[in-house]
Amino acid sequence: MSLRSFAIVVAADLANGIGLNGTLPWRLRKDMAFFAKLTSKTSASSPPSAINACIMGRKTWESIPQKFRPLTSRLNIIVSRDPHYLDDKPEKSNPHVRLASSLEAALSLAESLHYSVPSAPADQTQVDHIYLIGGAQLYNEGVLSKDCKHIYLTRVHATVECDTFFPEIKESEYTLLPSQQGHKHLEELLQEPVEGGLITEGSFQYEYTVYERK
Ligand SMILES: NC(=O)c1ccc[n+]([C@@H]2O[C@H](COP(=O)([O-])OP(=O)(O)OC[C@H]3O[C@@H](n4cnc5c(N)ncnc54)[C@H](OP(=O)(O)O)[C@@H]3O)[C@@H](O)[C@H]2O)c1
Repeated sequence: MSLRSFAIVVAADLANGIGLNGTLPWRLRKDMAFFAKLTSKTSASSPPSAINACIMGRKTWESIPQKFRPLTSRLNIIVSRDPHYLDDKPEKSNPHVRLASSLEAALSLAESLHYSVPSAPADQTQVDHIYLIGGAQLYNEGVLSKDCKHIYLTRVHATVECDTFFPEIKESEYTLLPSQQGHKHLEELLQEPVEGGLITEGSFQYEYTVYERK
């Protein structure tokens, strides 16, 4: 796998709906905890100082409540066409927050910081896994990339009002892993037990699914 290989993490309903009015259409506490673990867990072979990179569109960054951003113990890479976006923001000098002008630039930045790159300065953040965490604009581009090796999709078994959608996952490009295999993959990645099957939270039921690039 190349150093710029990445995975998408998303929660979508049965119609691929992912957002409404700039925020999530649901509040799924356990899925949020799963998201935090998945995007934070580094591989056992990486140095203890390495962290994962989370690439996100500017709107997704702004949708994270102020008190929860930047996402802790992860390198937050915000994609925006505005090179001055961070200039007047409190996160400007935070070493765990970086700005990139495109998905490509964000991937190149994360790749350049990979812990195995000899030229990566020792005093800088070292990166292990790369996750693309939204939103729709970035997902649209991300699913088309050959470097996108997995899509970790929390499938919400409902159809709710949404104004933002995840793109179609083409069967010619990705395989939906059978549930046992997907579950095993997630437990290996998280190095801990993961709840399998249908999870019930409030009025919602959902399950963790894994798509793998063919
Ligand atoms: N269900 C989920 O798992 C999930 C996950 C994430 C987000 N969401 C939801 O998705 C919605 C936000 O998604 P969105 O599609 O509206 O916005 P988004 O993708 O998060 O952000 C869009 C912004 O990113 C920048 N951008 C996008 N493509 C770019 C490119 N090719 N080059 C440079 N910059 C680029 C632009 O920023 P500038 O305008 O600053 O140039 C653009 O306005 C929210 O409702 C959020 O809650 C859901």
